[in-house]
Amino acid sequence: MLIDIIAGARPNFMKIAPIIEELKNRKNPNLKWRLIHTGQHYDKNMSGSFFRDLNIPAPDQNLEVGSGTQAEQTGKIMYAYEQLLQKEKCDLTLVVGDVNSTMSCAISAKKAVGIKVAHVEGGIRSNDLSMPEEINRMVTDSISDYFYTASATANENLLKLGVGDERIRFVGNTMIDTLLKNLPRLKKPEIWEKLHLENKRYLVLTLHRPSNVDSQRKLAEILRIVSDQVDIPLIFPVHPRTKSVLEQITTGLDQIYLTDPLGYLEFNYLVRNSKGVLTDSGGITEETTVMGVPCITLRENTERPETCEIGSNVLVGADHEKLRFHLKKLDRDEWKKGSIPPLWDGKASIRIVDHLEELQQQIG
Ligand code: UD1
Repeated sequence: MLIDIIAGARPNFMKIAPIIEELKNRKNPNLKWRLIHTGQHYDKNMSGSFFRDLNIPAPDQNLEVGSGTQAEQTGKIMYAYEQLLQKEKCDLTLVVGDVNSTMSCAISAKKAVGIKVAHVEGGIRSNDLSMPEEINRMVTDSISDYFYTASATANENLLKLGVGDERIRFVGNTMIDTLLKNLPRLKKPEIWEKLHLENKRYLVLTLHRPSNVDSQRKLAEILRIVSDQVDIPLIFPVHPRTKSVLEQITTGLDQIYLTDPLGYLEFNYLVRNSKGVLTDSGGITEETTVMGVPCITLRENTERPETCEIGSNVLVGADHEKLRFHLKKLDRDEWKKGSIPPLWDGKASIRIVDHLEELQQQIG
C-alpha cells in the first residue's frame, strides 16, 4: 500500500512528524509512503525550520504552490496534486488538520477514483463559516473514508453526520505526540537573554486570523487593551499575514515586543515558561492545555471545546471587558486548574499506524 502524506502549512508539520516516525519504526515493507509538501508555506521560519527541528525527512515532492487568494491557492494545489497522481497513483491519501492543502488534496485524491482518504483531526467544528478552515473541515470530512479523531466531540459530530462508527478511530492528538516527545528538547530563544525574560514574568501573544488582523483598527484595539492592562513584557512572534497590518500601527505597543515567527522548539520553550498566552490559534490552545499554561483565546468560538471544558483555555472573543477580566485573573494567579483530555498521551501516531497496517492487510 502506498500512502501519500500531505503537509502544506505550519500547523501541519507537527502533526505529520510523529506519524512518519512511527511508519519508519514499523519497517513494514508493504507500508510505503511519500511525503508531499504543497508549498503553501514556504518561508524558512514557516516551513524549513520545522523540518529541521522535528527531524522530518525532506519531502519526496514539493508542489511549490505558494501564496494566493483562497480560490487561487486551493485550485493550484488541486491541480498540482492531480498531476502528480496521474503520474503515480497512491492507495491512500492522508491529510491532516484544516488548511487549504488539506481540503485541496482530499478533493483531488477522491476524484482520482480508487484512492482512499484518511483525515487526521477529523470531525472538529467551530460552526463559524466565516473561517476558511471551517469550510476546509466540512468539505474534507464529507469525502473522507477514515477519520482519526482527537476528541469525544469530534466523534459525536461525525456520528451526527451519519458517518459509520467503523470509519472513526478515536486515536488522540498527533500534535501532542510531538509536544510530549520534544518537551526535553525545548530551546531558549535568543530574545530570552536580550529582553532579560524571567520564568512566569512575561506573556506570549500570537494573532493571525483574518478576523483579528486584517482590520488595522481591530488589531490596534486588541494591542492597546493588552498593553494597558499588563505590566510585564508581552512577546509577539509575528505571522507574515499580521506583519503588513502591524507595520501601520505605531501606538499601543508599550510592553509588546515583536519578533519573527519562532521555530517549534523555541516557541514552545517560551510558552511553557510564560505566565500565560493570548492567541487566536487553535493548535496553541491544545499545547497550553497539555503544558498547564493559562490561555486566553481571542475568538468567539472554538472547534476544540475540550481545551476550555477540560483544559486551561478561556474564550473571550471580541469582548474587551471579558479580556480585561481574564487578564486581571491571570495577574492575580487565580487561573483555573485544567487537566489533559483523554488519549492526549503521546500515542496517537501508534494508533494511526496500527489502523494503516490493518488497511494494508485488506488492500495489499
Ligand atoms: C494558514 C492556514 C491557517 C493556519 C495558518 C498557520 C488556511 C486557510 N489557513 O493561514 O489555518 O492557522 O496557516 O500559519 O490554510 N506568507 C509568507 N510566507 C509563507 C507563507 C505565507 O509570507 O511561508 C504570507 C503570504 O503573504 C500569504 C499570507 O502569509 O498571503 C497568508 O498565508 P496563507 O497560506 O494564505 O494563510 P495563513 O494566513 O498563513
